[in-house]
Amino acid sequence: MTDTITLPGLIDVHTHLRVPGGEHKEDFVTGTAAALAGGITQILAMPNTSPPLTLPEVMADTLAAARRDVRCDVGLFAGASPEQIDQLPALAPYAVALKIYLNDTFGKLRVEDVPTLRACFQTWPREKLIAMHAEKQSVAVGIGLAATYERPVHFCHISRREEIELIADAKMRGLPVTCEVTPHHLFLDVRDRERLGMLADMRPVLGTPDDVAALWAHLHDTVDCIATDHAPHTLAEKQSDNPPPGVAGLETSLALMLTAVTENRLTLNRLIELMHTNPRRLYHLPAQPDTHVEVEMRPTTIRNEAMHSKCGWTPFHGRAVAARVKRVVLRGQVVVEDGMVLAQPGSGMVIE
Ligand code: NCD
Ligand code: ZN
Repeated sequence: MTDTITLPGLIDVHTHLRVPGGEHKEDFVTGTAAALAGGITQILAMPNTSPPLTLPEVMADTLAAARRDVRCDVGLFAGASPEQIDQLPALAPYAVALKIYLNDTFGKLRVEDVPTLRACFQTWPREKLIAMHAEKQSVAVGIGLAATYERPVHFCHISRREEIELIADAKMRGLPVTCEVTPHHLFLDVRDRERLGMLADMRPVLGTPDDVAALWAHLHDTVDCIATDHAPHTLAEKQSDNPPPGVAGLETSLALMLTAVTENRLTLNRLIELMHTNPRRLYHLPAQPDTHVEVEMRPTTIRNEAMHSKCGWTPFHGRAVAARVKRVVLRGQVVVEDGMVLAQPGSGMVIE
Protein backbone atom coordinates (compact mmCIF):
# COMPACT_ATOMS: atom_id res chain seq x y z
CA MET A 1 0.00 0.00 0.00
CA THR A 2 1.39 3.37 -0.95
CA ASP A 3 0.12 6.47 0.80
CA THR A 4 -1.47 9.13 -1.34
CA ILE A 5 -1.60 12.70 -0.09
CA THR A 6 -3.54 15.63 -1.50
CA LEU A 7 -2.08 19.14 -1.64
CA PRO A 8 -3.41 22.45 -2.93
CA GLY A 9 -2.12 23.58 -6.34
CA LEU A 10 1.44 24.75 -5.63
CA ILE A 11 2.81 28.16 -6.58
CA ASP A 12 6.28 29.03 -7.88
CA VAL A 13 7.03 32.75 -7.64
CA HIS A 14 10.39 32.50 -9.47
CA THR A 15 10.45 30.84 -12.90
CA HIS A 16 12.33 31.68 -16.10
CA LEU A 17 10.12 30.75 -19.06
CA ARG A 18 12.49 32.38 -21.60
CA VAL A 19 9.80 34.12 -23.69
CA PRO A 20 10.66 36.23 -25.61
CA GLY A 21 14.05 35.45 -27.12
CA GLY A 22 15.17 32.26 -25.37
CA GLU A 23 12.64 29.81 -26.77
CA HIS A 24 15.34 27.27 -27.63
CA LYS A 25 15.84 26.82 -23.84
CA GLU A 26 12.15 26.86 -22.80
CA ASP A 27 8.86 28.32 -23.97
CA PHE A 28 5.40 28.84 -22.51
CA VAL A 29 4.15 25.44 -23.71
CA THR A 30 7.06 23.38 -22.34
CA GLY A 31 7.72 25.44 -19.19
CA THR A 32 4.11 25.28 -18.04
CA ALA A 33 4.03 21.52 -18.80
CA ALA A 34 7.09 21.16 -16.54
CA ALA A 35 5.32 23.15 -13.82
CA LEU A 36 2.19 20.97 -13.92
CA ALA A 37 4.25 17.76 -13.98
CA GLY A 38 5.88 19.01 -10.77
CA GLY A 39 2.55 19.76 -9.06
CA ILE A 40 2.78 23.51 -9.65
CA THR A 41 -0.35 25.18 -11.02
CA GLN A 42 0.54 28.87 -10.78
CA ILE A 43 3.87 30.51 -11.68
CA LEU A 44 5.40 33.97 -11.93
CA ALA A 45 7.80 34.43 -14.86
CA MET A 46 10.95 36.53 -14.61
CA PRO A 47 11.70 39.54 -16.87
CA ASN A 48 15.36 38.83 -17.89
CA THR A 49 14.29 37.83 -21.40
CA SER A 50 15.56 39.21 -24.77
CA PRO A 51 14.35 41.86 -25.01
CA PRO A 52 13.71 42.15 -21.28
CA LEU A 53 10.24 42.95 -19.89
CA THR A 54 10.96 46.64 -19.36
CA LEU A 55 8.70 48.22 -22.02
CA PRO A 56 4.87 48.14 -22.18
CA GLU A 57 4.88 46.95 -25.83
CA VAL A 58 7.11 43.98 -24.97
CA MET A 59 4.95 43.13 -21.94
CA ALA A 60 1.76 43.30 -24.03
CA ASP A 61 3.19 41.01 -26.74
CA THR A 62 4.48 38.55 -24.13
CA LEU A 63 1.11 38.43 -22.39
CA ALA A 64 -0.58 37.78 -25.74
CA ALA A 65 1.81 34.85 -26.37
CA ALA A 66 1.11 33.57 -22.84
CA ARG A 67 -2.66 33.68 -23.42
CA ARG A 68 -2.18 31.46 -26.47
CA ASP A 69 0.32 28.98 -25.00
CA VAL A 70 0.23 28.49 -21.23
CA ARG A 71 -1.04 25.24 -19.69
CA CYS A 72 -1.03 26.47 -16.06
CA ASP A 73 -1.67 29.95 -14.67
CA VAL A 74 1.12 32.47 -15.31
CA GLY A 75 1.82 36.05 -14.23
CA LEU A 76 4.74 38.20 -15.38
CA PHE A 77 7.30 40.28 -13.52
CA ALA A 78 8.22 43.66 -14.97
CA GLY A 79 11.95 44.45 -14.91
CA ALA A 80 13.60 47.62 -13.63
CA SER A 81 16.23 49.13 -15.92
CA PRO A 82 17.90 52.56 -15.51
CA GLU A 83 17.35 53.53 -19.18
CA GLN A 84 13.62 52.79 -19.11
CA ILE A 85 12.76 53.75 -15.55
CA ASP A 86 10.13 56.31 -16.65
CA GLN A 87 8.14 53.37 -18.08
CA LEU A 88 7.37 51.82 -14.68
CA PRO A 89 3.83 53.24 -14.24
CA ALA A 90 2.93 52.15 -17.80
CA LEU A 91 4.38 48.65 -17.16
CA ALA A 92 2.54 48.09 -13.90
CA PRO A 93 -0.90 47.16 -15.33
CA TYR A 94 0.68 44.22 -17.19
CA ALA A 95 2.73 42.86 -14.29
CA VAL A 96 2.09 41.08 -11.02
CA ALA A 97 5.26 42.52 -9.44
CA LEU A 98 8.56 44.33 -10.12
CA LYS A 99 11.97 42.63 -10.18
CA ILE A 100 15.16 44.55 -9.42
CA TYR A 101 18.53 42.90 -10.04
CA LEU A 102 21.19 44.33 -7.74
CA ASN A 103 23.80 41.68 -8.55
CA ASP A 104 25.25 40.11 -11.70
CA THR A 105 23.45 37.19 -13.27
CA PHE A 106 22.22 35.85 -16.65
CA GLY A 107 20.98 38.69 -18.87
CA LYS A 108 21.68 42.41 -18.87
CA LEU A 109 19.09 43.70 -16.39
CA ARG A 110 20.91 45.44 -13.53
CA VAL A 111 20.31 48.39 -11.22
CA GLU A 112 23.44 49.85 -9.63
CA ASP A 113 22.50 53.47 -8.96
CA VAL A 114 20.50 55.11 -6.21
CA PRO A 115 18.35 57.37 -8.46
CA THR A 116 16.95 54.29 -10.21
CA LEU A 117 16.25 52.58 -6.88
CA ARG A 118 14.47 55.70 -5.59
CA ALA A 119 12.37 55.85 -8.75
CA CYS A 120 11.36 52.20 -8.31
CA PHE A 121 10.24 52.73 -4.73
CA GLN A 122 8.51 56.04 -5.48
CA THR A 123 6.69 55.18 -8.72
CA TRP A 124 5.91 51.43 -8.64
CA PRO A 125 2.31 51.00 -7.32
CA ARG A 126 2.33 50.28 -3.60
CA GLU A 127 -0.12 47.40 -3.90
CA LYS A 128 2.31 45.43 -6.12
CA LEU A 129 5.33 43.75 -4.57
CA ILE A 130 8.98 44.60 -5.30
CA ALA A 131 11.25 41.53 -5.50
CA MET A 132 15.03 41.76 -5.46
CA HIS A 133 18.00 39.70 -6.52
CA ALA A 134 20.32 40.81 -3.71
CA GLU A 135 23.37 38.96 -2.40
CA LYS A 136 25.62 39.57 0.61
CA GLN A 137 25.64 43.27 1.58
CA SER A 138 23.09 44.08 -1.15
CA VAL A 139 20.50 42.50 1.18
CA ALA A 140 21.20 45.40 3.56
CA VAL A 141 20.44 47.83 0.70
CA GLY A 142 17.07 46.16 0.16
CA ILE A 143 16.25 46.22 3.88
CA GLY A 144 17.18 49.92 3.98
CA LEU A 145 14.82 50.66 1.08
CA ALA A 146 11.97 48.68 2.70
CA ALA A 147 12.45 50.69 5.90
CA THR A 148 12.84 54.09 4.15
CA TYR A 149 9.81 53.77 1.90
CA GLU A 150 7.78 51.67 4.37
CA ARG A 151 6.83 49.13 1.74
CA PRO A 152 7.40 45.37 1.37
CA VAL A 153 10.53 43.95 -0.25
CA HIS A 154 10.83 40.27 -1.16
CA PHE A 155 14.31 38.76 -1.43
CA CYS A 156 14.77 36.11 -4.13
CA HIS A 157 16.83 32.91 -3.67
CA ILE A 158 18.56 33.68 -0.36
CA SER A 159 21.52 31.31 -0.13
CA ARG A 160 24.00 32.31 2.59
CA ARG A 161 24.05 32.27 6.39
CA GLU A 162 24.93 36.00 6.55
CA GLU A 163 21.90 36.86 4.38
CA ILE A 164 19.29 34.77 6.18
CA GLU A 165 20.56 35.99 9.57
CA LEU A 166 20.34 39.64 8.44
CA ILE A 167 16.77 39.07 7.20
CA ALA A 168 15.88 37.38 10.52
CA ASP A 169 17.18 40.50 12.35
CA ALA A 170 15.15 42.80 10.07
CA LYS A 171 12.00 40.75 10.62
CA MET A 172 12.57 40.83 14.38
CA ARG A 173 12.49 44.64 14.16
CA GLY A 174 9.19 44.46 12.32
CA LEU A 175 10.49 45.54 8.90
CA PRO A 176 8.33 44.46 5.93
CA VAL A 177 10.76 41.99 4.34
CA THR A 178 10.20 38.43 3.12
CA CYS A 179 12.37 35.87 1.36
CA GLU A 180 12.44 32.67 -0.64
CA VAL A 181 14.97 29.84 -0.83
CA THR A 182 15.42 27.34 -3.66
CA PRO A 183 15.57 23.55 -3.38
CA HIS A 184 19.03 23.55 -5.01
CA HIS A 185 20.40 25.74 -2.22
CA LEU A 186 18.83 23.37 0.35
CA PHE A 187 19.85 20.04 -1.24
CA LEU A 188 23.21 20.83 -2.90
CA ASP A 189 26.35 22.59 -1.69
CA VAL A 190 29.80 23.56 -3.00
CA ARG A 191 31.01 19.97 -2.75
CA ASP A 192 28.53 18.94 -5.48
CA ARG A 193 30.40 21.10 -7.98
CA GLU A 194 33.15 18.47 -8.23
CA ARG A 195 30.62 15.89 -9.40
CA LEU A 196 28.37 18.16 -11.47
CA GLY A 197 30.74 20.82 -12.85
CA MET A 198 28.87 23.61 -14.61
CA LEU A 199 25.59 21.72 -14.13
CA ALA A 200 25.83 22.97 -10.55
CA ASP A 201 26.53 26.60 -11.51
CA MET A 202 23.83 29.14 -10.82
CA ARG A 203 23.34 32.59 -9.28
CA PRO A 204 23.60 32.78 -6.35
CA VAL A 205 26.28 30.06 -6.42
CA LEU A 206 25.91 27.00 -4.18
CA GLY A 207 26.67 27.65 -0.52
CA THR A 208 28.96 25.93 1.97
CA PRO A 209 27.56 23.19 4.22
CA ASP A 210 27.32 25.86 6.93
CA ASP A 211 25.20 28.11 4.65
CA VAL A 212 22.92 25.16 3.90
CA ALA A 213 22.56 24.38 7.62
CA ALA A 214 21.55 28.00 8.27
CA LEU A 215 18.87 27.88 5.56
CA TRP A 216 17.39 24.69 7.04
CA ALA A 217 17.48 26.14 10.56
CA HIS A 218 15.59 29.24 9.38
CA LEU A 219 13.07 27.31 7.25
CA HIS A 220 10.70 27.23 10.21
CA ASP A 221 10.60 30.96 10.94
CA THR A 222 12.50 33.33 8.63
CA VAL A 223 11.90 31.75 5.20
CA ASP A 224 8.54 32.64 3.61
CA CYS A 225 8.55 30.63 0.37
CA ILE A 226 10.24 27.82 -1.50
CA ALA A 227 10.79 29.05 -5.08
CA THR A 228 12.44 27.03 -7.84
CA ASP A 229 14.41 29.70 -9.76
CA HIS A 230 13.79 27.32 -12.69
CA ALA A 231 16.47 28.68 -15.07
CA PRO A 232 16.79 26.26 -18.00
CA HIS A 233 19.75 26.35 -20.39
CA THR A 234 20.55 23.66 -22.98
CA LEU A 235 23.14 21.01 -22.15
CA ALA A 236 25.24 22.30 -25.09
CA GLU A 237 25.22 25.80 -23.57
CA LYS A 238 26.17 24.46 -20.12
CA GLN A 239 29.04 22.48 -21.66
CA SER A 240 30.29 25.39 -23.81
CA ASP A 241 33.30 27.62 -23.11
CA ASN A 242 31.05 30.34 -21.72
CA PRO A 243 28.37 28.45 -19.77
CA PRO A 244 25.40 30.51 -18.53
CA PRO A 245 24.39 30.14 -14.85
CA GLY A 246 21.11 28.44 -13.95
CA VAL A 247 19.44 25.05 -13.47
CA ALA A 248 15.93 23.69 -14.01
CA GLY A 249 13.77 23.16 -10.93
CA LEU A 250 10.03 23.02 -11.59
CA GLU A 251 9.83 19.23 -11.80
CA THR A 252 11.99 18.33 -8.81
CA SER A 253 11.02 20.88 -6.15
CA LEU A 254 7.98 19.13 -4.65
CA ALA A 255 9.54 15.64 -4.64
CA LEU A 256 12.64 16.96 -2.86
CA MET A 257 10.66 18.94 -0.27
CA LEU A 258 8.35 15.97 0.41
CA THR A 259 11.42 13.78 0.88
CA ALA A 260 12.51 16.23 3.58
CA VAL A 261 9.06 15.81 5.17
CA THR A 262 9.58 12.03 5.36
CA GLU A 263 12.94 12.71 7.04
CA ASN A 264 11.25 14.98 9.62
CA ARG A 265 13.16 18.05 8.43
CA LEU A 266 9.89 19.97 8.03
CA THR A 267 6.19 19.23 8.47
CA LEU A 268 3.65 18.82 5.70
CA ASN A 269 1.79 21.88 7.02
CA ARG A 270 4.94 23.96 6.80
CA LEU A 271 5.54 22.72 3.22
CA ILE A 272 2.03 23.91 2.27
CA GLU A 273 2.72 27.33 3.83
CA LEU A 274 6.03 27.63 1.95
CA MET A 275 4.76 26.39 -1.42
CA HIS A 276 1.17 27.64 -1.50
CA THR A 277 -0.19 29.86 1.28
CA ASN A 278 2.65 32.36 1.64
CA PRO A 279 3.42 32.77 -2.09
CA ARG A 280 -0.27 33.42 -2.74
CA ARG A 281 -0.55 35.97 0.09
CA LEU A 282 2.69 37.86 -0.72
CA TYR A 283 1.88 38.35 -4.40
CA HIS A 284 -1.93 38.67 -3.93
CA LEU A 285 -2.54 35.80 -6.37
CA PRO A 286 -6.06 34.70 -7.27
CA ALA A 287 -7.56 31.51 -5.84
CA GLN A 288 -7.75 28.48 -8.14
CA PRO A 289 -11.07 26.76 -7.42
CA ASP A 290 -11.38 22.95 -7.71
CA THR A 291 -7.60 22.59 -7.93
CA HIS A 292 -5.42 20.02 -6.17
CA VAL A 293 -2.37 17.78 -6.50
CA GLU A 294 -2.35 14.08 -5.63
CA VAL A 295 1.05 12.68 -4.68
CA GLU A 296 2.08 9.07 -4.16
CA MET A 297 4.50 8.64 -1.28
CA ARG A 298 6.78 5.94 -2.67
CA PRO A 299 10.47 5.72 -3.60
CA THR A 300 11.29 7.10 -7.06
CA THR A 301 14.47 8.18 -8.84
CA ILE A 302 14.68 11.57 -10.54
CA ARG A 303 15.66 11.10 -14.19
CA ASN A 304 16.59 13.51 -16.99
CA GLU A 305 14.48 11.43 -19.41
CA ALA A 306 11.29 12.14 -17.47
CA MET A 307 11.64 15.95 -17.68
CA HIS A 308 9.12 18.00 -19.66
CA SER A 309 11.34 21.09 -19.60
CA LYS A 310 12.86 21.76 -23.01
CA CYS A 311 16.38 21.73 -21.54
CA GLY A 312 15.97 18.01 -20.72
CA TRP A 313 18.31 17.78 -17.73
CA THR A 314 18.34 18.34 -13.99
CA PRO A 315 21.20 18.55 -11.48
CA PHE A 316 19.23 15.97 -9.43
CA HIS A 317 19.42 13.22 -12.09
CA GLY A 318 19.86 9.88 -10.29
CA ARG A 319 18.71 11.15 -6.87
CA ALA A 320 16.31 8.98 -4.87
CA VAL A 321 13.20 10.81 -3.63
CA ALA A 322 10.20 9.68 -1.61
CA ALA A 323 7.32 11.01 -3.70
CA ARG A 324 5.92 11.32 -7.19
CA VAL A 325 3.09 13.42 -8.59
CA LYS A 326 0.22 11.10 -9.51
CA ARG A 327 -2.51 13.47 -10.68
CA VAL A 328 -3.08 17.22 -10.94
CA VAL A 329 -6.55 18.75 -11.20
CA LEU A 330 -6.80 22.41 -12.28
CA ARG A 331 -10.25 24.06 -12.17
CA GLY A 332 -11.90 20.66 -12.24
CA GLN A 333 -9.89 19.32 -15.23
CA VAL A 334 -7.35 16.50 -14.89
CA VAL A 335 -4.21 18.17 -16.29
CA VAL A 336 -1.61 15.56 -15.25
CA GLU A 337 -2.10 11.79 -14.97
CA ASP A 338 0.81 9.41 -14.22
CA GLY A 339 3.52 11.65 -15.68
CA MET A 340 1.46 12.64 -18.75
CA VAL A 341 0.58 16.32 -19.12
CA LEU A 342 -2.94 16.50 -20.54
CA ALA A 343 -3.56 20.27 -20.38
CA GLN A 344 -3.82 21.96 -23.76
CA PRO A 345 -1.77 25.08 -24.59
CA GLY A 346 -3.95 28.10 -23.87
CA SER A 347 -5.94 26.36 -21.12
CA GLY A 348 -4.00 28.16 -18.37
CA MET A 349 -4.99 31.64 -17.22
CA VAL A 350 -2.88 34.78 -17.38
CA ILE A 351 -2.73 36.69 -14.09
CA GLU A 352 -2.77 40.50 -14.38
C1 NCD B 1 18.97 32.89 -14.00
C2 NCD B 1 18.74 32.75 -15.50
O1 NCD B 1 19.35 31.87 -16.12
O2 NCD B 1 17.92 33.48 -16.05
N1 NCD B 1 20.15 32.15 -13.65
C3 NCD B 1 20.46 31.73 -12.44
O3 NCD B 1 21.57 31.20 -12.27
N2 NCD B 1 19.63 31.81 -11.42
C4 NCD B 1 19.05 34.32 -13.61
C5 NCD B 1 18.74 34.59 -12.16
O4 NCD B 1 17.71 34.17 -11.63
O5 NCD B 1 19.52 35.27 -11.49
ZN1 ZN C 1 16.00 33.63 -11.32
